[in-house]
Amino acid sequence: MDAIAQHYPQHIATLRQRSDALLAEHNLAGMVIDAGYPAAIFLDDMEYPFKANPHFKQWVPLTDNPHCMLVIRQGAKPQLLFYRPVDFWHKVAPLPTESWVEQVELIEFARLEQLLELMPQDKQQFAYIGAHADHAASLGLTLVNPKPLMDGIHFSRSIKTQYEIECMREANRIAVIGHQAARDAFMAGASEFAIQQAYLSAVGQGENQVPYGSIIALNQNSAILHYTKLEQTVPAQRLSFLIDAGAQVNGYASDITRSYAYESTGLYAELVAAMDAHQQQILAMIKPGVAYLDLHLDMHRRVAQMLNQFELASGSEQQLIDLGITKAFYPHGLGHPIGLQVHDVAGFMQSADGTEQMPPEGVTVRCTRIIEAGMVLTIEPGLYVIDSLLNDLSDEAKALLNPVRIDELRPYGGVRIEDDVVVLADGIDNLTRQFGL
Ligand code: GLY
Ligand code: MN
Ligand code: MN
Repeated sequence: MDAIAQHYPQHIATLRQRSDALLAEHNLAGMVIDAGYPAAIFLDDMEYPFKANPHFKQWVPLTDNPHCMLVIRQGAKPQLLFYRPVDFWHKVAPLPTESWVEQVELIEFARLEQLLELMPQDKQQFAYIGAHADHAASLGLTLVNPKPLMDGIHFSRSIKTQYEIECMREANRIAVIGHQAARDAFMAGASEFAIQQAYLSAVGQGENQVPYGSIIALNQNSAILHYTKLEQTVPAQRLSFLIDAGAQVNGYASDITRSYAYESTGLYAELVAAMDAHQQQILAMIKPGVAYLDLHLDMHRRVAQMLNQFELASGSEQQLIDLGITKAFYPHGLGHPIGLQVHDVAGFMQSADGTEQMPPEGVTVRCTRIIEAGMVLTIEPGLYVIDSLLNDLSDEAKALLNPVRIDELRPYGGVRIEDDVVVLADGIDNLTRQFGL
């Protein structure tokens, strides 16, 4: 049995313990978790790609089974209501037979109208968790995504079970194979579109299966933070390549970024090497008890050092930070929790009662948590030439910039390095680098 399957029974045992405690605390008999169904495209007979409710796929490794539901009752084996219509237009999913099925009570149904009879008798004591309140109402479920319960579940999702970690390890292993194929395609002169095809093919997942739209950016495009355009033409010059792309396993994501210089020497190659060193130094600071926000702020000091080192700007660390110069070059956060969602829930939550701590004024980061063992986080510092942000700086700040050097870097866009790491009692397990990337 593989590591993922081996850890699933304990995962379900942990989820059952967590949900029994939360349901008792909130005076509920149980919850109905709806996998969901795809949204229809306006005035069309097509649908948007289906994305399963993350709460559903946490319990069962099913990511492509719309209309299935889970009935989770305090103290009882979870029921999986598995939809298998008679349908000659579409492929009907076979009943699952893998070992995980032993942990649930599998109930097959063929018509959506049957769902009403499959709902618990005491459904007023149940919460509905899902995206379709009208559907819930039609089933007699009126307590929809109650915030106190959702807060409790979301907070508990921060600490991953070994099963979840193994799913993310596998999602990293697969994505690393894709990253290596993408790097080879870049070096061979492929277009952004062709690199994406090489990536997806090596990963073995379609563009709607990977957890987010790949960022495959050549040259200056790499300074566009969420660049997903994918040009089909090959640029005249090959300078730089930034790839931010992941894979999913049982609904769990990986999220990896690498930056490559086409020429092995020169400004951009040195910048990539320096960023890689800083990223690894930040990784070495991770342990339980450290505030994620402090790592993010430390990265701003490092960006200030890099700006001086590469002569993009000159000034003291404090000056470059206080005048907003580091933020103009590094405008995003250091990273985020990752799991069932790429940007996983509870990055700001401080307790199960939903108390949140937002970052201080002017600080952009998706996580203000004190780091704990069992969290899975990304660390993804970057540095880019983004003219709109540089133009917005004050005259005092602009006076510290070195336009000649910025002009030199601009055609290369920017650099970002991103790994996914599990926090251990005394450090980290780097899910990305362990596969040789
Ligand atoms: N790929 C999105 C991110 O790195 O947060
Ligand atoms: Mn990313
Ligand atoms: Mn990320």
